[in-house]
Amino acid sequence: MKVLIVGGAGYIGSIVTRLLFEKQMDVVVLDNLSLGHRKALPSAVPLIEGGMADAALLENLFSSHRFDAVMHFAAFALVGESVAAPLAYYHNNVANTVNLLRVMKAFGVRHFIFSSSAAVFGIPQKIPIPEAHPKAPINPYGWSKHMVEQVLEDSAAAQEVRFVSLRYFNAAGAHPDGTMGEDHARETHLIPLTLQAILTGKPLTVLGTDYDTPDGTCIRDFIHVLDLAEAHLLALDYLLNQKESAVFNLGNQKGFSVKEVISVAEKITGKTVPVIHGDRRPGDPPVLVAGSEKIKRALGWKPRFAEIETIIETAWNWHRSHPFGYAS
Ligand SMILES: NC(=O)c1ccc[n+]([C@@H]2O[C@H](COP(=O)([O-])OP(=O)(O)OC[C@H]3O[C@@H](n4cnc5c(N)ncnc54)[C@H](O)[C@@H]3O)[C@@H](O)[C@H]2O)c1
Repeated sequence: MKVLIVGGAGYIGSIVTRLLFEKQMDVVVLDNLSLGHRKALPSAVPLIEGGMADAALLENLFSSHRFDAVMHFAAFALVGESVAAPLAYYHNNVANTVNLLRVMKAFGVRHFIFSSSAAVFGIPQKIPIPEAHPKAPINPYGWSKHMVEQVLEDSAAAQEVRFVSLRYFNAAGAHPDGTMGEDHARETHLIPLTLQAILTGKPLTVLGTDYDTPDGTCIRDFIHVLDLAEAHLLALDYLLNQKESAVFNLGNQKGFSVKEVISVAEKITGKTVPVIHGDRRPGDPPVLVAGSEKIKRALGWKPRFAEIETIIETAWNWHRSHPFGYAS
């Protein structure tokens, strides 16, 4: 089994790469390291340093390896930045993905696993959010994921590809052995920001305390990165067993508010999180919680690290031992 992992040096892709590698699969990573880290990969995993936009590089790669499947993590993923620079987002997230799919088709590689996002739903009308919920993205990032899902639907209907699209909710936590975790140059995710506030003493800004939620702060569904990684393995099996293309939500069907996350972080670390209260961030839905029964039913996915305490504890072990991420 040979799998190409595009964006495999990033936070989620590197954990999936390690999991596949530990299962004795043959993996090759393609990453331009614009946001990822060579050190996040096992040294025995080949890393092709380059970008998806480079058609010649992709053709060369597909002619030197016979891939059974491609897992695609590479994207820009900052909502605010996508509003400020939509063309860069549509180019990297949509056009480059189409480029990748075209080369896959030319080389007869059909199995594709795509990192989609809860951002395709926009402001939900219903909680928990089922897969069939209307898609109404509210920023270019969400649209870019929705557009790729449409490309995949159409391409699958024409027998060009068979795919699984996994709509992650809030990926969080770190490898339980403490050696791999989140290291984003511009971090926007709540759990690392909370733990970094503890480590640096620089306050965490809580973005909005007047939402229509029990404590006034936003509620999110956090999923441990290793549970997410396991879902990719199951999705790969599912595709190789000739099952139909499918889209699944990936979350724990349980929401935690920003204040709840802060209080669990304080309990786990035994330290106080320095906090300041800021305005709402435009386009942040008050509540995002996944309906995730479909993936449990269809793939037999079962989260092993669903407790918020475990998610935060693994993240804490990573951040305190790697205060400068992979550069530590
Ligand atoms: N982290 C989350 O909570 C979350 C939630 C929903 C969806 N997602 C999606 O999951 C995927 C992975 O997220 P992440 O947090 O691991 O991101 P990340 O930024 O850590 O990883 C992305 C990787 O892709 C690489 N990359 C980007 N553009 C590339 C290109 N053109 N060619 C080659 N490599 C390129 C980067 O260098 C990086 O290593 C993304 O598609 C993201 O949109 C993430």
